[in-house]
Amino acid sequence: MLVDSFGRVATDLRVSLTDRCNLRCTYCMPPEGLEWLPKPELLTADEIVRLVGIGVERLGITEVRYTGGEPLLRRELVDIVTRTAALRPRPRLSVTTNGIGLSRLAAPLADAGLDRVNVSLDTLDRDTFVRLAHRDRLADVLAGLASAEAAGLRPVKVNAVLMRDVNDHEAVPLLDYCLERGYELRFIEQMPLDAQHGWRRDTMVTADEILKRLLDAYDLTPDDPRERGSAPAELFLVDGGPARVGVIGSVTRPFCGTCDRVRLTADGQIRNCLFATDESDLRTAMRNGAGDDELAERWRAAVRVKRAGHGIDDPAFLQPARPMSAIGG
Ligand code: GTP
Ligand code: 5AD
Ligand code: SF4
Repeated sequence: MLVDSFGRVATDLRVSLTDRCNLRCTYCMPPEGLEWLPKPELLTADEIVRLVGIGVERLGITEVRYTGGEPLLRRELVDIVTRTAALRPRPRLSVTTNGIGLSRLAAPLADAGLDRVNVSLDTLDRDTFVRLAHRDRLADVLAGLASAEAAGLRPVKVNAVLMRDVNDHEAVPLLDYCLERGYELRFIEQMPLDAQHGWRRDTMVTADEILKRLLDAYDLTPDDPRERGSAPAELFLVDGGPARVGVIGSVTRPFCGTCDRVRLTADGQIRNCLFATDESDLRTAMRNGAGDDELAERWRAAVRVKRAGHGIDDPAFLQPARPMSAIGG
């Protein structure tokens, strides 16, 4: 088991497959992109499958989510899903994606054993999409969502980050769109994880504001909190249910106390938190010949020292050196 000093158990592994992306969302990276990790530093597909196997077989990982950057850019994704779906006990497998590659990949991924997808969609307006993501790809994202639904990757969850004066007026239209199609929409508070360090607490659209906007159009009742478990999203029944909408208030309503996550970066570092200041280098250990026992022990040690919370409200808070795209969303 992966247990920290506060007694939290990490069962949810988030694996970043690449730091690259085919969008440039302003809350994530600059329009010119970033300096990408050099190829030799990336874990190979074999190395990823080996580490996920150690997590599942020895350390109690039951959920594996592939993220990025944009995980669908990783050529071996279908192969990695196939091989990790064959692990026992079989982990639940999901992907968090910007959706662009799903028209092509949703069906092969479902066949490979992927259970579900979370897709980022911040706007339904083409011009706003271009302003937010610096690429004219809205139609591809919407087509990708439909492909995920058609391939049975359910529930399809949609992630929307609201930015003040950019897309914050779209809360209700986004919910309308998702309700009509049976997607579970979650609004996310923007976190200080952008490469440009442009996040400002006073301009962030808060969970309270998001809920207020939704209440203009819909009746919301809190869903049974036991349903939430350790998930980041606080869920609300829309107009009595069964449809739901979520709010992920990472900043103003932190859920660090029930966190069950651990991350593996694309270059093979274990991070015990999105906001961790330290990482544990499993790639170098593995390439120097470490066996499974040693890798598992290093991994346990990395989780043991997880801090109580992200500390965004701490006056001494420092944004992590790596942006979200390099850590894994
Ligand atoms: P499911 O609810 O299982 O579908 O997963 P998820 O919502 O955790 O996954 P997803 O990758 O879609 O992440 C959605 C958002 O949750 C991210 O944009 C983050 O804002 C937030 N999030 C995910 N993991 C963490 C975490 O470890 N800490 C914090 N503070 N926020 C997280
Ligand atoms: N704050 C909150 N969410 C973010 N995401 C990317 N950057 C940030 C940020 N700074 C979201 C993406 C995606 C998920 C993995 O994280 O929109 O849905
Ligand atoms: Fe790409 Fe996701 Fe970052 Fe947007 S948030 S630029 S989709 S990695």
